[in-house]
Amino acid sequence: MDQPSGSLPADVLDRLLDIVGTQHVLTDHELHRGYIQDWTGRYVGRTPAVIRPGDTAEVAAVLATCTAAGVRVTPQGGNTGLVGGGVPLHGEVLLSLRRLNAVGNVDVAAQQVTVGAGVTLSALHEVARAAGLAFGVDLGARASATVGGMAATNAGGLHLLRYGGMREQVLGYEAVLSDGRVISHLDGLLKDNTGYDLGRLLCGSEGTLAVITALRLRLVPRLDHKVVALLAFETIESALTAAATLRRDLGDVEAIELFFHDGLDLVTTTLGVPRPFAADHRVLVLVECAARRDPTDELAEAVGTLDGVVDAAVSSEPGPMAALWRLREGHTEAINTLGPPHKLDVTLPAANLAAFVHSVRGVIAAVDPAARTWLFGHAADGNIHVNITGVAPDDERTDEAVLRHVAALGGSISAEHGIGTAKRAMLHLNRSDAEIAVFRALKGALDPAHTLNPEVLLPVR
Ligand code: FAD
Ligand code: MLT
Ligand code: ZN
Repeated sequence: MDQPSGSLPADVLDRLLDIVGTQHVLTDHELHRGYIQDWTGRYVGRTPAVIRPGDTAEVAAVLATCTAAGVRVTPQGGNTGLVGGGVPLHGEVLLSLRRLNAVGNVDVAAQQVTVGAGVTLSALHEVARAAGLAFGVDLGARASATVGGMAATNAGGLHLLRYGGMREQVLGYEAVLSDGRVISHLDGLLKDNTGYDLGRLLCGSEGTLAVITALRLRLVPRLDHKVVALLAFETIESALTAAATLRRDLGDVEAIELFFHDGLDLVTTTLGVPRPFAADHRVLVLVECAARRDPTDELAEAVGTLDGVVDAAVSSEPGPMAALWRLREGHTEAINTLGPPHKLDVTLPAANLAAFVHSVRGVIAAVDPAARTWLFGHAADGNIHVNITGVAPDDERTDEAVLRHVAALGGSISAEHGIGTAKRAMLHLNRSDAEIAVFRALKGALDPAHTLNPEVLLPVR
């Protein structure tokens, strides 16, 4: 249900101005552009005000005020989310958490750090690196994505097969409930069975249960020696068999990524990136290893055992490694140049992954012959990104057909981006009525007034 977006009741606005200060309450719509539209341009909302609190106490006072006045709130971090969950599509107040960017001292012995929810992934990588450590999650939106948003979406990313996703990194949390109460458990004890793990519950809750204000995060050893290989195949079957073999045989493997010749063409032409091979190959697998010692020989030996490799480019030099990564990471940006894409992000069981790749274009074409389908993803996780262009932003028919196809093959309709508003009507494909009832009970317990992202994740009744 929408709430009027024109203006807030005067007493509520006065109170919010008192709490965060005039310069951090943005009511001028000219200043809202970067907050109300998502990264793809598919989701565009409106808000009476962007509120930018500077600390946990201010977040608490803002939420208490909004809840008491019946004003709904959309929390937002870096606004790089891809499922329409972080923009105010129904006239919500936009609560930007980017100013919560304090970074605590790295506890080198414990390999942990406490950071504010608004700290960007790039900033966290830099802090960890400077302490001789690393953070286990990485993704292409690193310059803008915040750790609060990444926890709220339970982001996966490029290194999930080695370190797990965001949920696996969260050792403690601080958050604010919609009535303004602060809950916190930031000790970071590795063994701590004192009841429910509320921090990990918030991972994947997409701003519907509480606003995350700080996180205690696991760090991992920094591995300075890297090598990247781009391997070309002519069939998806040989590429997926190779990915599974590398995952099994390579101790130091950090990423195994997948893309296809049409996506490669798009990236090289639209972003002006050089082609990696003289010939055109159907399937590309990018492998990265990282270790304390140069892992090039280990990778070369493993690649030598693979069947079906028709071309390869290997480098352990920073520039060429980045150029190979650009071919994969550039997909998001290149596809966006074709107009707002429909972005589906699914996981298939390993046994059905090749069949899905063969069939999904046909599923989309049967619904809309004019639609174009782009596939890429995280090969070793079974996570394929299905992007569809040439379809109107509000035309859900191809999305629904793909998600039903995924569910029929035993897959997940959301691998790593979340449900947001984009997939809430389809949640029942993966979750039973009983599970959704428990989701609703949790929402009712933590946010009984339905202040926080009321139109996100949970299906309309
Ligand atoms: P936002 O977009 O601001 O918000 C996302 C959701 O979290 C919203 O529902 C919002 O309400 C909620 N939220 C935000 N902050 C808080 C908070 N402090 N407390 C409570 N709720 C909050 N995702 C992957 O998983 N893997 C990838 O490899 C990946 N690559 C990407 C590459 C590009 C180029 C882009 C544009 C996006 C990519 N993403 C990827 C998606 C996106 O970066 C992630 O979903 C990321 O976790 C979002 O973080 P954010 O800070 O931008 O969150
Ligand atoms: C990726 O793996 O590149 C991201 O999840 C972003 C996207 O799906 O476009
Ligand atoms: Zn991804």
